[in-house]
Amino acid sequence: MGAINAVVSLAADGDIAILSVNSPPVNALSQQVRAGLLEGARQADADKTVKAVVLICDGKTFIAGADITEFGKPPAAPSLVEVQDAIEGASKPFIAAIHGTALGGGLEVALCCHYRVAVPSAKCGLPEVNLGLLPGAGGTQRLPRIVGVEQALDMVTSGKHVDAKSAHAAGLVDELVPEGALQASAIAFARKLIADGRPLKRVRDLDDKVAAARGKREVFDAFRKANAKKFRGFLAPEYNIRAIEAAVDKPFDDGLATERKLFIELMTGTQSAAQRYVFFAERQVWKVPDVPDDTPTIPVHRVGIIGAGTMGGGIAMNFANIGVPITMVETKQDALDRGLGVVRKNYERSTKSGKLTMADVDKRMQLFTGSLDLGQLADCDLVIEAVFENMDIKKDVFGKLDRIVKPGAILATNTSALDINEIATAVKRPEAVIGMHFFSPANVMRLLEVVRAKATSKPVIATSMQLAKKLGKIAALVGVCPGFVGNRILYARSAQANAMLMEGAMPWDIDKAIYDFGLPMGPFAMSDLAGLDIGWIPEKTSSSTIREVLCEQDRRGQKTGAGFYDYDEQRNAKPSPVTEKIIREFAAKSGAPQRTISEHEILERCLFAQINEGAKILEEKIAIRPSDIDIVWINGYGWPVYRGGPMFYADTVGLANVVAKLEDYGPKLGKNFAISPLLRQLAADGKRFQDMK
Ligand code: 3HC
Ligand code: NAI
Repeated sequence: MGAINAVVSLAADGDIAILSVNSPPVNALSQQVRAGLLEGARQADADKTVKAVVLICDGKTFIAGADITEFGKPPAAPSLVEVQDAIEGASKPFIAAIHGTALGGGLEVALCCHYRVAVPSAKCGLPEVNLGLLPGAGGTQRLPRIVGVEQALDMVTSGKHVDAKSAHAAGLVDELVPEGALQASAIAFARKLIADGRPLKRVRDLDDKVAAARGKREVFDAFRKANAKKFRGFLAPEYNIRAIEAAVDKPFDDGLATERKLFIELMTGTQSAAQRYVFFAERQVWKVPDVPDDTPTIPVHRVGIIGAGTMGGGIAMNFANIGVPITMVETKQDALDRGLGVVRKNYERSTKSGKLTMADVDKRMQLFTGSLDLGQLADCDLVIEAVFENMDIKKDVFGKLDRIVKPGAILATNTSALDINEIATAVKRPEAVIGMHFFSPANVMRLLEVVRAKATSKPVIATSMQLAKKLGKIAALVGVCPGFVGNRILYARSAQANAMLMEGAMPWDIDKAIYDFGLPMGPFAMSDLAGLDIGWIPEKTSSSTIREVLCEQDRRGQKTGAGFYDYDEQRNAKPSPVTEKIIREFAAKSGAPQRTISEHEILERCLFAQINEGAKILEEKIAIRPSDIDIVWINGYGWPVYRGGPMFYADTVGLANVVAKLEDYGPKLGKNFAISPLLRQLAADGKRFQDMK
């Protein structure tokens, strides 16, 4: 008894042994943890004075999974399976005592214990699918034997964390024990087991739940069909389903072998590498090298929002959701009423899906105060401006705010492309000015670009990042340039897409290539959704672009039933002969030779132009690191996570290949197109974006 190694210890409480893991932050199954558990389990099993063993963890959580940092490296003994065999094959009961999150390999270890107890706040899950994997230590074989096939399918393909109460109801947890008394309760549970002479319950030996699904292919077919849209492009959900099928169709050990084979295929593939990369990128994005964690922050008790339009209302909802009161300022009463009306309607829609009750809606709406007077913002700790995208109006608003809002408050703008350094010249406290670029719809989209201007202070940055986290967003800190990171890269893609229309491609050809690559829609479908008339002024229109002509013909996108595409009543898109004619005429006028453009060329030109723009953004230090650009494109534009973002994707293509192809395309890319020197350099050095320090 005593320390087994630096992270695992064995202690005795009478005839009950306590095998504890203490490996912060999440007790992941590193080599040391595996070695400690194996040795501890063997010692406890061999010790005749021990009648049962409680497996428990220190710190904030039960084992949260395999150690992801070890993935991709040569395996170090002992394997997790050895640990599991030692536990499951023991001659006395092992009881997993669960708090925090028993995830992945952690839950798979718990499933090898003979019984499981948990505190009510605990959660269990097999989130491997989110890393492009499947549970590779028996999870796909043991879970359905306890919870049944349907729930197992749901858990492994969604990766969701199931709360202890539901886990108990499903039989995954044998007993719920009081919060704060986990160890004592688990020991008591063990003593009772022994007193009652209950047998060792090995999950591998259970058969009734999987037998119930045997021969019923339709269960799996229906599940695949119902989730086809969600799983599109991803390998891991399908592999998880196949592993559960094996649990149903095969004896336990054969099923385990199938699981192993599928697991290794995923683990060595590009999709999982991308998804593991994204897991770490999502955590790194919060880290700002010159704004350390201990930077003082500004308490935000009240938020002011100027402009109750599309963005202002959505932004405000984020704050109401976390209980922060909001003062909304508009120029006219009807605009204010309309804006607040839209907010209420959006909330009411959530009552239909059961997400909110009417009482929740009222509670949120009570946090709103509307006003036509900027003076009402004097006491706000943070003001976010979301008025028209016009520099003069924005500077006027900021000049007024400077005279009204209390010192120390944050003055943020939601501009999507204007120069925030220039906006900051309208105030005497430029250190208070920052960009908070929400994406539309702002109450739904997870991404927030926090835009650091030249003079923005560190506490203002730290507070903005911290607030984003509280709002449930993912925030990337970026610098000032036209379009910041996300839209600037979007413009680079649009330039290629538009150029290809002149060379003979149709909008639906380009959209199809982008959609098949894995994005939710292509550039032209996206324009139709947003509205082609953004920034279009009827009085000034001159039929000089395809977009202008479409607007002139009242083809302004989905909202008018036509844009690049024709739409039916259900807003289903169809290629439009009208658009085709307009494009052909423009192309004829330009004199550009017409040809068939392959899907391959469409993709390369769109994607490689994006990569090149990303490299320029890094060169100019507009983004802190390549993975931040990937976070922006995954969360703001729906870049498929299994391709890791444009910069990770570039690494998989090889930067030298990207440069060579860009050189091949040459003048086709446009007369202003230049290959980024950074991209050239990395390619010449045989490096990847991931190698950048
Ligand atoms: N391996 C290695 N490091 C891990 C890790 C893991 N499984 N899980 C979390 N970490 C690290 C994080 O990178 C982070 O490091 P940092 O502080 O240096 O950035 C730190 O632990 C804390 O993580 P979070 O910031 O995410 O902490 P939270 O408290 O917000 O969340 C959590 C805790 C819910 C456990 C969350 O970290 C999580 O979801 N972890 C991943 C769980 C997972 O996917 N497990 C399955 C792994 S695959 C597997 O088990 C294969 C098996 O089937 C064979
Ligand atoms: P919008 O036109 O829907 O709303 C703007 C609102 O501001 C209007 O209700 C208007 O009455 C009000 N307003 C104008 N001047 C004002 C003033 N001086 N004081 C108070 N209220 C005033 O515009 P939208 O789409 O909400 O855009 C707002 C800002 O957000 C713009 O800077 C835009 O570039 C940016 N943005 C827009 C996105 C979008 O997809 N719509 C995405 C991200 C940013």
